[in-house]
Amino acid sequence: SAGKLRFDGRVAVVTGAGAGLGREYALLLASRGAKVVVNDLGGTHSGEGASQRAADVVVEEIRKSGGEAVADYNSVIDGAKVIETAIKAYGRVDILINNAGILRDRSLLKTTEQDWNLVNDVHLKGSFKCTQAAFGHMKSQNFGRIVMTSSNSGIFGNFGQGNYAAAKMGLVGLANTVAIEGARNNIFCNVIIPTAASRMTEGIIPEVLFNELKPHLIAPVVAYLCHESCEDNGSYIESAAGWAAKVQTVRGKGSVLRPSLDDTVTLEYVKNAWSKVTDMSQAKHLNSMAEATGYLLEVIEKLKAGGGDAVEDTFTFDNK
Ligand code: NAI
Repeated sequence: SAGKLRFDGRVAVVTGAGAGLGREYALLLASRGAKVVVNDLGGTHSGEGASQRAADVVVEEIRKSGGEAVADYNSVIDGAKVIETAIKAYGRVDILINNAGILRDRSLLKTTEQDWNLVNDVHLKGSFKCTQAAFGHMKSQNFGRIVMTSSNSGIFGNFGQGNYAAAKMGLVGLANTVAIEGARNNIFCNVIIPTAASRMTEGIIPEVLFNELKPHLIAPVVAYLCHESCEDNGSYIESAAGWAAKVQTVRGKGSVLRPSLDDTVTLEYVKNAWSKVTDMSQAKHLNSMAEATGYLLEVIEKLKAGGGDAVEDTFTFDNK
């Protein structure tokens, strides 16, 4: 009906769409008119084995309700093949949701190189490969919407998830850069930070909460990020339980660690200024590297002038 957000004419690739969150994304996009590539390797939650069933079941579900979908059984590590499925079936790719994932939870000392590699390969390299393969097509059509999937495990850390946390924060870095490289071609890249009941979180999240964390409550947020009317680029959106919020990095005001340009930074200057270095009461978000670098020029100017208020404040020593 009129006023509904539609995806007619759009082709969406959803990785890991055979279950959990990815399945909900695929179902919703298809119900709103997108042609969907349902990618899923169909292995275990720790990345062993493969099966066509996971993707096939979701494709069947979409077709039964009148939508259009094809299955793709490649690992996201073979990103070019995943995107090729979209090109072969539908001739284009407008939307890419990098969602496929596995877990190999081990504390640091018990993490094997294989655990490290497989988790990073699926999440981080897989998202890179799919994104790189889709990006050229998006560029030439001057439209693209890409979503990376991060995790609170990366943002806050989580015992036993060093491999996963590293990959998930790696995806934030990748998204930041894809957002910049895509902007001029109307290719936007954003990050979803979900918390949802799935085989991945079963037995980890307490049951009372688990039951309220339906993955279909997150799908509209992710679908909105993929819609042409959404103007966000480079945003991190956390969502769960029918709630969503933007997440940002912030930086404190900091402290100039020496009196003037002629002085050097000593350990004692650092110690005395530490409460100011770590004070977050005036923290703010910076929008770009240029903004961060620009601030350094201000620091240099202050030092050239022999310091301002900030410098004087920094050097009120209680030891002589
Ligand atoms: P899930 O295990 O239900 O779904 C992941 C799907 O990815 C599975 O169907 C699996 O077969 C597929 N997959 C795994 N490796 C693949 C590969 N190499 N190539 C293609 N497909 C592959 O898990 P869930 O919970 O739906 O997770 C989806 C994404 O959300 C993952 O990236 C996960 O790390 C992330 N996430 C989930 C959270 C949650 O609370 N469920 C929390 C934070 C992040």
